[in-house]
Amino acid sequence: RNNPNSALYEINNQAGRLYNILLMSTELGARARDYLEERGISTEIIKRFNIGLAPDEEDFIFKNLSQKFEEGVLANSGLFNFSNNRVFDAFKNRIMFPITNEYGHVIGFSGRKWQADDVSKAKYINTSATTIFDKSFELYNLDKAKPVISKSHEVYLMEGFMDVIAAYKAGVFNVVASMGTALTEKHVHRLKQIAKNFVLVYDGDSAGQNAIYKALNLIGEGQTQVAKVPEGLDPDEYAKTYSLESLAALMKNGRIQPIEFLIDFLRPENLSNLQVQLDFIEQMAGQIAKVPSLTAQDAFIRKLVEILPDFEYNQVENAVNLRRENV
Ligand code: CTP
Ligand code: MN
Ligand code: MN
Ligand code: MN
Ligand code: MN
Repeated sequence: RNNPNSALYEINNQAGRLYNILLMSTELGARARDYLEERGISTEIIKRFNIGLAPDEEDFIFKNLSQKFEEGVLANSGLFNFSNNRVFDAFKNRIMFPITNEYGHVIGFSGRKWQADDVSKAKYINTSATTIFDKSFELYNLDKAKPVISKSHEVYLMEGFMDVIAAYKAGVFNVVASMGTALTEKHVHRLKQIAKNFVLVYDGDSAGQNAIYKALNLIGEGQTQVAKVPEGLDPDEYAKTYSLESLAALMKNGRIQPIEFLIDFLRPENLSNLQVQLDFIEQMAGQIAKVPSLTAQDAFIRKLVEILPDFEYNQVENAVNLRRENV
C-alpha cells in the first residue's frame, strides 16, 4: 500500500513461514530438529521463536517467492544474492532465526550452520542491512520482552539467540540480545525509554568482558549491574552445564556492581609493583567516590584492598576521600 516497506515486511514474513515449514516437515528438517533437540530446543520453543530451516538448495526460496513479489522487493529484501544474471538464496542449509522488530514484524534473519561437515566460514550469517533491517538498532526478542521490561523497569542484555532462549526456558522474559557484542548508542537510547535498570549477562570469555566494559561506558554505571558468567561459558552453556534454575539464579541474585567488575577487569598484571598499585588506587578511587552509598563505597574499598599487597584500608580510603572533596 502506501508504505513502501510493507512488501518487505510481507516477503520476510512469507520467507519465515517457508523456513519454518521446511524445518517441521522435510527429511533434512528432521535432522535439523535432532540438532536443535540436542541443544535443548523443543518443538514448543521452535514455535515460540518461529525457528526454521533454509533448504540445502541454490534458489528454492527465490523460486517460491519470485512470482509473488516485484523485482525491486526481491532485490531489496536481503533474502537473495544477485550475481551474473543469476539469483541465489542468501541462506543455504542453515537454521533460521527470524529477527523481528519491536512490533513483531519479521525484518530479517540470522542463519546458523549446524551440520558437522559444513565448511562455510561464519557460524551465523545475517541479513545484510535493508530499509527495514538495521542491526545497530534492532534487538533480538524486544517484541516479546517489551511488556515485561516496562513492568519491571529492568532489562537483561545478552549476546546471542541461544542465550535469550535459555533465559526464556529459565523463566526470565525481560531479555534481549544485541546479536553479537556491539551494543550501540541507538540500542541504549531505545531501551532507556522503557527500562531504568540494565543487567549485562555477556559471555564468559574475553570478548564478552570487553563488551561489558564498553556497555558500562555506553549505558552509564549508575543504572547497570553485571551478572558474570564463569570463564569459558556463555549463558546458554551455563544453563546446560548446571541447570535452568542456576541460570535464573545467576541472573537474579548473582549480580555485581560495575565497580566490582572494573576492579577485576582493569586490574593490572604486575600488582606487586608499588607504583602500579598507587596508579590503580588513583584510577579506582575516582570511580568509588562516585558511588552514592557510603556503605557500598566501603565495600568496594575493601574489595580493592584485598588484592593490593602493600596497602591498607585507611590508605585507600584516604585516596577516595580526596576524590570525594573534588567531586
Ligand atoms: N554472531 C554473528 N555472526 C557470527 C558470530 C556471532 O552475527 N559469525 C552473533 C549472533 O547473534 C550470536 C552472537 O553474535 O548469537 C554471539 O556470538 P557467539 O557467542 O559466538 O555465538 P553463540 O550465540 O554462543 O552461538 P551458539 O550458541 O549457537 O554457538
Ligand atoms: Mn511502573
Ligand atoms: Mn561470544
Ligand atoms: Mn556465546
Ligand atoms: Mn552459545
